[in-house]
Amino acid sequence: MRLLAICAAALLFICAACGGGMSTAEQAAAEMTGGGNPARGRAAIERYGCGTCHTIPGVRGADALVGPPLTQVASRSYVGGVLTNSPENMIRWIRDPRAVDSLTAMPTLGVTDQDARDIASYLYTLK
Ligand code: HEC
Repeated sequence: MRLLAICAAALLFICAACGGGMSTAEQAAAEMTGGGNPARGRAAIERYGCGTCHTIPGVRGADALVGPPLTQVASRSYVGGVLTNSPENMIRWIRDPRAVDSLTAMPTLGVTDQDARDIASYLYTLK
């Protein structure tokens, strides 16, 4: 019984150490965005319907071409053609693209700060 408890504790420790099952790319993206969660981000992308305009690898049904494909968006130099591609700028764009560029066709969708952070962390796994 005691051995079982020790094994369980060791397993918990290992799981915590490896970031709860995140891949290296996901861990890096989580760190870059100050604690964004890529898995939650992917779910949020589905919820907000980003895929009705964008092709986004790994997101179910996200195959539209109204806006630019977000394939390898992590490697892009600019966000929306106006902001340098940094995590803070990516979050800013996702939250309120119209405030960044009043002429952009991307609508402001009312994405919350946490959701934008999670979404940005998912996008930063797309290298
Ligand atoms: C109604 C269509 C539409 C929806 C919905 C939409 N976008 Fe966009 N998005 C666009 C368009 C159009 C652009 C190009 C904007 C520009 O360059 O001014 C864009 C640009 C972007 C960019 C910058 C890409 C680059 O290469 O510069 C990102 C990142 C992005 N969108 C993420 C999202 C996310 C995340 C969502 C969901 C929360 C979303 N978009 C929802 C139309 C949309």
